[in-house]
Parts: sequence; structure tokens; C-alpha cells
Amino acid sequence: MVQLTLPKNSKIGKGRHWRAADGASKKDVRTFRVYRYDPETGDNPRWDTFEVDTSKHGPMVLDALFHIKNEIDPTLAFRRSCREGICGSCSMNIGGRNALACTKGWDDFGSTITVSPLPHQPVIKDLVPDLTMFFAQYKAIEPWLHTETPAPETEWRQTPKDRDKLNGLYECILCACCSTSCPSYWWNGEAFYGPATLLHAYRWLIDSRDEATGERLDALEDPFKLYRCHTIMNCAQVCPKGLNPAKAISEVKKMLVERAI
Ligand code: SF4
Ligand code: SF4
Ligand code: FES
Repeated sequence: MVQLTLPKNSKIGKGRHWRAADGASKKDVRTFRVYRYDPETGDNPRWDTFEVDTSKHGPMVLDALFHIKNEIDPTLAFRRSCREGICGSCSMNIGGRNALACTKGWDDFGSTITVSPLPHQPVIKDLVPDLTMFFAQYKAIEPWLHTETPAPETEWRQTPKDRDKLNGLYECILCACCSTSCPSYWWNGEAFYGPATLLHAYRWLIDSRDEATGERLDALEDPFKLYRCHTIMNCAQVCPKGLNPAKAISEVKKMLVERAI
């Protein structure tokens, strides 16, 4: 029989509410609704509410999360490293859209800001998703130079024109904002490679130094790995680096058609 309600242990409960510190000016206080989950407790996930005095921290959502962790609730878990939009580790869903917490300003939102983990991935704790499958898929496309020609004495050379073909691709920081906002990836995540991995697949396919183009295309010619992309374009809309994985995917499809005719 079709199950029309969520299983009991998937329902998100109402969590704790931390009031703003005494003396905080009303105009500086923002409310952060933060997804909390700790599998070790056996409790259902919950939404905790933090009234935060934003005059006490920097301008980004990550600054607010650090403030919460350092000043209010040290048990809050989230990933971060570079704080500069480079490492891709602070990706999460902020105000209903995937983004990097370190480059997204809290002032872009209204008085209440909802923060949850990247959607449709298992949650390890709070805002930390389990990206094991995402990185296994990335590994599966063998993201390194494949060559048969003996290695040159100095370096593999490339013309400036060929190098330019990698622009818009090499900048990907593997934050997973795109893949986890893709409806096709939500429903077929175990079989469909998703936009980030496919963008990288294309990056190696058009690298003039790579000598495994045929094998790479063979590995992608599959009804699920590549062809579950239905050009919904969520990926391009959320990419914090302004990349367009949907375009890269369509280029891979084009390469497959071109080699067949
Ligand atoms: S364009 Fe393709 S990869 Fe991008 S969100 Fe849509 S279905 Fe997913
Ligand atoms: S394409 Fe953009 S959104 Fe996707 S993983 Fe790379 S940087 Fe992140
Ligand atoms: S902390 Fe590195 S991208 Fe945000």
C-alpha cells in the first residue's frame, strides 16, 4: 500500500529556542532556524531556533553559524575550511537554496533564515551531509590525465586556445550544490552521475592532452549515468562559481551523437 505520510522517525520536530542575549538591539537580531540531527541520540531531527545578535559577528551566514557554535550551542556541527569560497566544504541549503555559507550574506535574507543540510543526501550530523556517493561518482570518471604517449621530459604542452576550452570547467570546487539541487539526481542519485561529476567528465573529454576520449565516452554511454539529465537547469542556477553544468552535459551528449554519425 502507498505510504502517504513520512515514517515516524523522519518527522522533523520542534527544537530548542534560544532567545537573543539581553541588551541586543532589536534591529540587529536575526532568527536562524537550523536543522539539527544527531543519529547517536536516536531522536528525530528538529528545527532549533537561534535569535542571533548579528552585530557580534561578520557578514556571512558562516559567521553566524560560528557565532552560534562559539557562543550559544557548541554541539552544532557543520563543515568549513577556507572561508573564501574555494574549498567547497561549507555548502548547505540556506533560505531554500543551495549555497556556500562563507560567501552568502545573512543580510540577503529577511528576519528569519532557514539553514539545512544539502538536500537528498544522508545526514551525518546537523548540517553535515554524507557525500560518499557524490565523491565515488567523481572518482568513477577517473578525473586525471590519461595518456599512452611517453611522458615528455618537461611537461604536457597545450596551445592557449586549447587551454581556453577548460575555462568554465576547471573552476569547479566540488561543493555539490548543483548535484543536490537536481531533481533527476534526487530520484536517481545512485545511477545518474549528476551535474558536478558530468561537468568534470566533460572537462577531461575536451582536454587536448588526454588520450582516452573514446574510452571516456564509452563509459558515459548509459541510459542513467548521463541521460537522466532533462535540462531542468537548477544546477546552473545554484552554482556558486557561476558554472553551467547543464551546458557541459549537453556537450557530452553532442560528442556521443557526433561519434555515432
Ligand atoms: S540540467 Fe540536468 S543536471 Fe542540471 S539540474 Fe537539470 S537535470 Fe539536473
Ligand atoms: S559545478 Fe558549481 S555547484 Fe557544482 S560542484 Fe562545481 S562548483 Fe559546486
Ligand atoms: S569554507 Fe571553503 S567554500 Fe566555504
